[in-house]
Amino acid sequence: MTMDRIPLIAGNWKMNGAVAESVALARAVAAGVAPGCELLVCPPAVLIPPVVAALKGSAVAVGGQDCHFAESGAHTGDIAAVMLVDAGCSHVILGHSERRADHGESDELVRAKTEAAHAAGLIAIVCVGETLAERDGGETLTRISSQIEGSLPDAVTAENTVIAYEPVWAIGTGRTASPADVEEVHAHIRADVERRFGKGVAAGVRILYGGSMKPSNAAELLAIDGVDGGLIGGASLKAEDFLSIATSCP
Ligand code: 13P
Repeated sequence: MTMDRIPLIAGNWKMNGAVAESVALARAVAAGVAPGCELLVCPPAVLIPPVVAALKGSAVAVGGQDCHFAESGAHTGDIAAVMLVDAGCSHVILGHSERRADHGESDELVRAKTEAAHAAGLIAIVCVGETLAERDGGETLTRISSQIEGSLPDAVTAENTVIAYEPVWAIGTGRTASPADVEEVHAHIRADVERRFGKGVAAGVRILYGGSMKPSNAAELLAIDGVDGGLIGGASLKAEDFLSIATSCP
């Protein structure tokens, strides 16, 4: 962590929750104290309005879990970036491995969605990560580089984009990448960003780790050089665990 990059602790609630429990979870997160880091929660789309209302006046930001690349139109079931903004979101997660797998999202599509998010004024959290087969095949860094190259549009800045490194095999499995592996991949991503977007963007852009982060391993993961926060799934569904991770920020 450098002094300039404020850690971001982001909760990806995925497809979990209903109004009452989500409002209670949001309120409990807002009531916690996490000095020195930014907090973000990303509820399922229909829960964004009640969560935004519950967090009004708090320091906890709200984000979407996906958006369409178009501004409006005949795209049944999809949500536009401007709609997320209208609902009170400041961020959107894009290219999560579950969307890449469940919906066949390509790097090109993620890039178009990221452009739409930027055009709407959202901060895009763009996810990359290798599968177990890719890691075992020694392809981790080339896979990450091609996702970074293909998924990020040319207008990326340190302000409008956050990158999340989420090894697919570590998501929801209880397995985490080793600190050495995380450090290596984060440094690799930052070097790719520097080559394409310049030193200033590389120095300022936040790169989060995601994949089975929980209270018991958060301090170790968040202390790794080049890790600027976490994207947390399962452990973000319990306010106590999420806040415990947030207070582990160095
Ligand atoms: P888990 O924390 O449940 O492994 O999920 C990580 C993730 O996919 C966050 O986007």
